[in-house]
Amino acid sequence: MADPERQHRFRREAPNRAATTPKRPQPGGGVGTPVLEFRGVSKVYEGGDVALDQATFAVDRGEFVFLVGHTGSGKSTVMRLLIRELEPSAGGIRVAGRDLAEIGRRKVPYYRRNIGVVWQDFKLLPNRTVYDNVAYALQVTGGSRRQIRDKVPDILRLTGLATKLHNYPDQLSGGEQQRVSIARAFVNHPPLLLCDEPTGNLDPETSIGIMQLLYRINRTGTTVLVATHDHAMVDKMRRRVIELSEGRIVRDEAAGLYARDETTREFAARMRGAVADPDLDPAAPRTRPRAPDRPR
Ligand SMILES: Nc1ncnc2c1ncn2[C@@H]1O[C@H](COP(=O)(O)OP(=O)(O)OP(=O)(O)O)[C@@H](O)[C@H]1O
Ligand SMILES: [Mg+2]
Repeated sequence: MADPERQHRFRREAPNRAATTPKRPQPGGGVGTPVLEFRGVSKVYEGGDVALDQATFAVDRGEFVFLVGHTGSGKSTVMRLLIRELEPSAGGIRVAGRDLAEIGRRKVPYYRRNIGVVWQDFKLLPNRTVYDNVAYALQVTGGSRRQIRDKVPDILRLTGLATKLHNYPDQLSGGEQQRVSIARAFVNHPPLLLCDEPTGNLDPETSIGIMQLLYRINRTGTTVLVATHDHAMVDKMRRRVIELSEGRIVRDEAAGLYARDETTREFAARMRGAVADPDLDPAAPRTRPRAPDRPR
């Protein structure tokens, strides 16, 4: 498979470089520009529901960030604003330095090619096989037959679906269906992956597998933003957490001290509690820095 890092359109820096403190935005869209930036963003729906209230935050390239908060706190609204399904009532949103307000309606589909989206309910095409669900995502963005032949098997291997190519969605478990939707979201190697409750319908063990996959994707350099209710998962992942409450950001902190350079295998073992967590047990061996994972 071609090196996905070279295909990233937003990314210019090493993966996971900025896993803790986001850099200040810099003018001009150069190196150091956050992948996404909300400045004083409010969203009031018709009927008066205030979904976001002056939210300000920035996410750097290569970060893995959780968006948490009670139901109705505004998480999905953030996602929908980012794919320009909604427009803010006030404030500004930039993605890769680009002001979303300046993207004309007809340009929105092109803008969205830079963003992979994963939903809680998978949103797969029920009458198409696993292979065709993923191939379709390339077709609609103008992928050639050759690109489809090259890329689809690779992404299905990466997501652990190589033996399920010919299955239809209703012949898959929930975890497998979510893997298909991640494969579909990532087949174009977007620099930004948004996941809205990706494990909301899955059991804890399956959820770990999905998080392991998202972590692997993050290690190729893609910035990942995950909205979730799953506190246990967030605590174990030890990544940056942005918390919303009634549309306001009430917490934005790096989870700190996590083993940033662990491989996806070490990550999964820690998530399952199979190895001691060095941050909880100082006697446990720390992971050594390693090169980023290559997709398998
Ligand atoms: N289309 C809509 N029209 C009117 N109000 C809406 C609409 N969508 C969301 N809201 C309101 O905006 C607020 C934020 O909703 P949002 O869906 O962003 O929350 P959430 O954090 O994703 O919740 P959940 O965890 O339940 O998915 C809620 O009060 C909700 O009722
Ligand atoms: Mg939601």
